[in-house]
Order: sequence, then structure tokens, then C-alpha cells
Amino acid sequence: MERFYVTTPIYYVNAEPHIGHAYTTIVTDVMNRFHKLMGHETFFLTGTDEHGDKIAQAAQEAGVEPKAYADRISALFRDTWPGLGITNDKFIRTTDAEHIRIVQYVLQKVYDAGEIYFSSYKGLYCVGCERFYTERELVDGKCPDHNRPPVEREEANYFFRMSKYQDWLIRYLEEHPDCIRPERYKNEVLAFLREPLEDLCISRPVERLSWGIPLPFDKRYVTYVWFDALINYVSALGYPDGELFHKFWPAVRHVIAKDILKPHGIYWPTMLQAAGIPMYRNLNVHGYWTSDEGKMSKSHGTVVKPLDMIPAYGLDAFRYFLLREMVFGLDANFSQDALVQRINADLANDLGNLFSRTLAMTEKYFAGTIPPFGSEPDAMDRDLKGKTDEAVAQFSAEIPRLGFHKALIAIWECIGAANKYIDYVGPWTLAREENLKPRLQTVMRTLLEVNRTVAVLVAPFMPATSEKMLERLGVPKKALDLRLSEDTRWGGLKEGDAVSKGEALFPRIDAASGKKAEKADKPAAKKAPEKAAKSAPKAPEPVAPAEAIDIEAFRQIDLRIGRIESAERVPKSEKLVKLMVDIGEKRQVVAGIAKSYSPEELVGKQVVIVANLKPAKLMGVESHGMVLAVRDGEGLKLLVPEQDVTPGGKIS
Ligand code: MSP
Repeated sequence: MERFYVTTPIYYVNAEPHIGHAYTTIVTDVMNRFHKLMGHETFFLTGTDEHGDKIAQAAQEAGVEPKAYADRISALFRDTWPGLGITNDKFIRTTDAEHIRIVQYVLQKVYDAGEIYFSSYKGLYCVGCERFYTERELVDGKCPDHNRPPVEREEANYFFRMSKYQDWLIRYLEEHPDCIRPERYKNEVLAFLREPLEDLCISRPVERLSWGIPLPFDKRYVTYVWFDALINYVSALGYPDGELFHKFWPAVRHVIAKDILKPHGIYWPTMLQAAGIPMYRNLNVHGYWTSDEGKMSKSHGTVVKPLDMIPAYGLDAFRYFLLREMVFGLDANFSQDALVQRINADLANDLGNLFSRTLAMTEKYFAGTIPPFGSEPDAMDRDLKGKTDEAVAQFSAEIPRLGFHKALIAIWECIGAANKYIDYVGPWTLAREENLKPRLQTVMRTLLEVNRTVAVLVAPFMPATSEKMLERLGVPKKALDLRLSEDTRWGGLKEGDAVSKGEALFPRIDAASGKKAEKADKPAAKKAPEKAAKSAPKAPEPVAPAEAIDIEAFRQIDLRIGRIESAERVPKSEKLVKLMVDIGEKRQVVAGIAKSYSPEELVGKQVVIVANLKPAKLMGVESHGMVLAVRDGEGLKLLVPEQDVTPGGKIS
């Protein structure tokens, strides 16, 4: 069985968890859940980094002992993760006795091998970073991270012979091109290695910093922060004898952001090599989340606390947004507007509508039970199945190569295809004729199977949504128990099993207030379209040709393509339906089509809207536009574009 060991950085306890930590931990969680879905054996580690100047300083400012301070912030991190759906197997603290013992063991081993020596060093030191800088690394004489000039410092210290491993590391990275990903970060490390590598200072005298792990061979010194912190990745597995270590090392995938590339891309490989520990499998480096005000960090005061977002928007929506919005390796900008837009467009509209329409029609046409495949699948059915298979293939290929957003795009292409399939096939028209029932069975079964596969594919990203969908599809399963091949097998639903539509998966968010729009995405009205059609007026009177107008007069009419996002009957009216239409902006339009279309049929349809009509009130409801339809025999038929187009497209 394949094994995967995934790790996040261990976070400093000098700041509370924020969106940057949340992203790294969530993306690692998605990797972990993905590998479980593939049937692999996994181990997921996160934790806190608790020694060093910065933490000692923060504790002093807070007026408490470093350990008490670390206990408090570490607990904040540990308690944040369950709320974000994180499935870590272990939470390590660098103050754990076992970690301290193993750090000392590794130090002694490397010291005994002659790879650590004692020497005096004079250099430029940044207190914020807790390290010496070379002139070349400074920007305008200042630390690039803290924008402060470093201080000159001379000290006798212990050094690790890192320079000795420079050639080995260059060769290793060239021979293992996938070791540091994406490629730009491998190149960054290689560029760094083009300059002579210096030895690494790994200690601090106790009188200057007592908050660290004592060197086993000289108690007057404690370890420098990186030699302590990086070893967590093996100490958590009980190196050197632990069962977990033998099982999971070196099948390790580290996940970090670009800020700590150098320690992970240079210090850690050379430390491993010196300690005789096999090199890690790969290092996965993502970019930075920024807010409109700049870098998200405590010092800039622009912290967005992840848990603060969840009550308002929901955990799964938040996880989806982070994974969909950031291209792994590049920076991304966080804004609440973008989050709301994604929730409304991708989750409430695309996914939510597909799911609720499919289940509503199953309830209506098959008394809420899974129909068999009736007639032989036709080209359209096969095409939709092909798109679903393609989504599974893309998902399986993209996640291992860090294309999380691409995996989501592939799933959403399948969702889009299924929504179009509904619009195009129009199951409600099949439902009108008894002899078309076998066809209707195949159409609905096809849709139900697509929904099941989508539910499984979203599981690593949105586990609760996945579970909710599977339960309503009559195949309840815990997200962590899913297996991709088995649970996406086409035809895997069981004929006769009950489905239930339930509440909307994702309530639409009102963009202006940021609150859930209560009535939006409301379950469709019960009235059947065929009944409506029967009571519709007979054939229209012949229409007399209108007077000719010139093109300018026509141009004054602002005709646009819109997509109906929600539809509900206007109370006490037989004819009127209130629509929320996306025409590049949201428009409320009241249309007199309720006798020909049920609200559920309307949601997701593309229509033509007269966008510059003066607002009017119909039965007390404001209408800001008109939907174009044509009377035809039985009733009204909407004018729709021949192919799906982007909402807002101007008709000319
Ligand atoms: N303690 C060290 C890591 C030791 S690992 C052996 C450390 N801690 S940290 O608290 O500063 O965490 C840095 C990590 O937090 C980044 O590498 C990244 O994973 C995450 N992020 C913190 N802010 C971030 C953003 N604004 N954007 C994305 N991720 C960032 O460094």
C-alpha cells in the first residue's frame, strides 16, 4: 500500500492563527484527504514551534513565563484545526519531552560525526528573523522581512558544516527535478546555491537565550531555532526506532509558504544528509495570501481570523474559496467580495442548483426513489458520462501535481455540463408523455450518477457537503471512508433507494449585506408544468406587422442575456413569477410565465432580458426588466440563446 506523510510548518506561538496558517493547514488537509480517498495509508502532522527569542520576547511582553505563554497560544492553534475540518494525526510541540530528547539525539549524532564545530562569528543579525544575514541578502541594508537594519553581533557558537553539502544538494536537486515544487522555487534554491554556501550557526549562549533546547555536548548553549524546529518532522515519528518512522519516512511531503523556503530547501536537506537520514520526497511551496492592504501579518494589523469567517459563510465555502482562488505557488488576494461571489456563483448557483434540481425532479417524477436506467443511453447521455469520467481523471491527475484549482475547475466543468444537459433535455417535457418514461428514467439516473460522482470528488475540499450530498442521494458514507474507484463507479446507486432533496446546500449570500439571503435558493414550488400548460390560453390571435422603425430606435432597447438564479411564485398570482436574474449584475424581474413554467424549471435557464425598461410594480413586487417569451399554442415559450453564453452579454 502506498504511504503518504504530509506536514505543515510548525507555527510560531507568537501570533494567533490567521488565514495564512489556515490555508497551509487546509491545503495539507486536502492532500491528506485525497490520498485517503485513493486508498493510501497516510499520516498528517502539524504543531507549534515554541522556542527562541521571539517567543521569549512575546512572553515577556505578556508578563508570563515562556512555557505558560506557549501553552496558551499552542492550544489556540490546536483548537482551531478541528473547526476547520483538519484531520491531523498528531499535533507536535517543540516543548514536548520526546521532541527535546530526539533533537538532542540528532545533535549528538551529527556532532559525533564531526559535522558540528565551535567557532567565533561576527555578523549582521536580525532579531525578528532570529538569524544572521549576509550583506547580499539585505535590501537597502535592511532585513527584507522586517524592513529594519540588522544589528552587528559577535559570538562564539556552534556551527554545522552546511557548506560541505553544497555540491551534493545541487546534484540531488538536479537529479530529482520534482523534489521542490513548483519549479520556480526549485530554481530559487538552485540560484541560491550558485553562491558559496556558508556554515550554519546552530546555537545561542544560554545567558542570551535560555528558552531553547540545551546542546547535549555543551550545556552553556541552546539550539538555534531551525535545528530544533526542522527536526519535528522526524521526532513526531519517533526517530530513529519508532514504528511510524519506519513506516512513513521518507514518504514525506512537506507543505510550506515561500517565506521559509531556505530553511526547508537548504538547511533541512543538508541536516538530513549529515544525520544519515534519507532525503524527504518533496517540498511543496505556496505563495502568500495578501489582503487589499498588503501582506497579512500581525505587524500590519490586517489579520483575518479564519474562524471568524465560518459562522457567516460556512466552513466548506471557506475551504472551497481558499483552494479555488489560490494557484498553488503564486500569491493570492483575499477579499470578502470575492468570497461572496464564489459562494453565489459556484456553490449556490452551479453546484447547489444542479443538486436541488436533480433531487426535486427525482421526487416529483419517481416518488423520490432512484430510477433504473430505462432506455439505452443516447449520445447526450454518453457525452455527460464522458465529462464526468474526465472530471475524475483530471481530479486524480491534478491534485498530486498541486493543481488544486484545476481539479476544482474540472469538477465544475462537469457540473456546468450537467446543468446544461438538464436545460437541453428538459426532463419535464419527457414527464408529460407516459411512453417517454424509459427515457426520463435514463436521464434522471444519469443525473443522479453525476451528482454522486461530484459528491465524492468534492470530498477532500468540502467534506461536510460531500457527506450531505451522499446522504440525500441515498448512499450515506463518511467522507474519510470514501474510495475513489469504488464510490464513483458509474451505476453505483441502487434502484429503488430513497433520495431526499432537503434544504439548499449553499444559501445565496446577499452581496451588499454579506448575510445569507433567506428566501434565495428556496425549494421549488410544487405546481407541475404540464398542468399549467393545460390551463394556458389557446393559440394567439394573428399578429399584425408593426410599423417600421429605424436601427437607432432598436438600439435604444438594451437587450441582454441573463441567467435565472432563483425563481418563486408571486403570492396570490396565477401568472406571475419573481425571478432573480444575473445579467452581469443581479436584477429582480417579474415575469408572467408561471402558467407555462414552474419555478424549478426556470432556475439555471438563460433568458433574454429587456434591461432598460422603467421599473414597475406587479402585484406589489418590483420588476426591473422584462423576460422575452413568445406565445405558442399551449402557452408561452422563453427565448433562449442557442448555446450557453456569459450572463450580461448584450444582444445586437
Ligand atoms: N516556525 C516556523 C516554521 C518552522 S517549520 C519547521 C515559522 N512559523 S510561522 O508561524 O511564521 O509560519 C509560517 C508559515 O505560516 C508559512 O510558511 C505559511 O505556511 C503560513 N503563513 C503565514 N502567513 C501566511 C500568509 N500570509 N500566506 C500564506 N501562508 C502564510 O515560520
